[in-house]
Amino acid sequence: MARAILRALLDHPVHSLDFVKVTESAALAASRWMGRGERDAADGAAVEKMREALGDMEIAGRIVIGEGERDEAPMLYIGEELGAGGQEVDIAVDPVEGTNLVANGLPNAIAVMAIAERGGLLHAPDTYMKKLAVGAKAAPYVHIDAPVLENLEAVANALEKPINDVCVVILDRPRHAELIRDVRAAGARIRLISDGDVDACIATAIESTGIHVAMGTGGAPEGVLAAAAIKCLGGNFMGRLQPRNADEIRRAAEMGFDDVGRVLEINDLVRSNDVIFCATGITDGDLVRGVRFFGNQARTHSILVHSSGTVRFVESTHRLGARPAGR
Ligand code: FBP
Repeated sequence: MARAILRALLDHPVHSLDFVKVTESAALAASRWMGRGERDAADGAAVEKMREALGDMEIAGRIVIGEGERDEAPMLYIGEELGAGGQEVDIAVDPVEGTNLVANGLPNAIAVMAIAERGGLLHAPDTYMKKLAVGAKAAPYVHIDAPVLENLEAVANALEKPINDVCVVILDRPRHAELIRDVRAAGARIRLISDGDVDACIATAIESTGIHVAMGTGGAPEGVLAAAAIKCLGGNFMGRLQPRNADEIRRAAEMGFDDVGRVLEINDLVRSNDVIFCATGITDGDLVRGVRFFGNQARTHSILVHSSGTVRFVESTHRLGARPAGR
């Protein structure tokens, strides 16, 4: 029954666009802070607007991935119930994915959300995750435990390209020195990014981006968000938690991870087959364009994907109220 109702909700165009309104409002709020060097202010503004927009929706929503535990986040904390009532859904959010990117006016900052039926999204601890993401053609041929060269050869074969045409995105972190060496030794090209691996992982599943693989270790909550989009797009995402200390291992165990080192397949991360994912650009990026202001209006660009396989790019124009003082 619940599934049938969600199905209706997923297929209803008005409801789908309502979800986009949530990421649009977060992106609009965060974009005011672009380049101002204040990552927390950008995040705070987006969180507030995202929460307001979710509160207006006709859903009984529960945050499963949000700004942190109840005692560390005043809004959009894990377990927070939101919405005006209706279908029970679990919600994963990242109001600003790439807070440093916004603070420094760099590309690929997005406001992100995934929605599924209750229990449909993994409740991931706030730790690191080793990740591997590829698009649909290479999906069956890679594995997170395979050597880098083997995975890259598999991707090259699947895409019918020489390996030196394959482009791999990796977060530019000292922990990735060996991975970067291995990718270079395999002959593939690398795009190093300073932040924002959700955008990078999803880009592997959209052919026009020219990004074929995302590898390396980033945030675990971000891994679930990326997996939700990739499941809809037909690619593959695999992860493995990488707790940094005993406290994180304990937290993971409390959340049900008895074997913290086990491989998390895409269906472990996103259990539901009824998923909606949407993201709105804050700054220009591989997936979507950033917020543009003109006169008293702003234009947003979003991606909305369903597990049905439908991908929509939504461009919206918003009439703005008075700007906050100083912005
Ligand atoms: P925030 O938006 O929370 O700042 O996260 C940005 C990000 O780059 C993620 O995309 C990535 O998964 C994670 O941080 C990497 O963490 P770290 O900066 O600790 O390497």
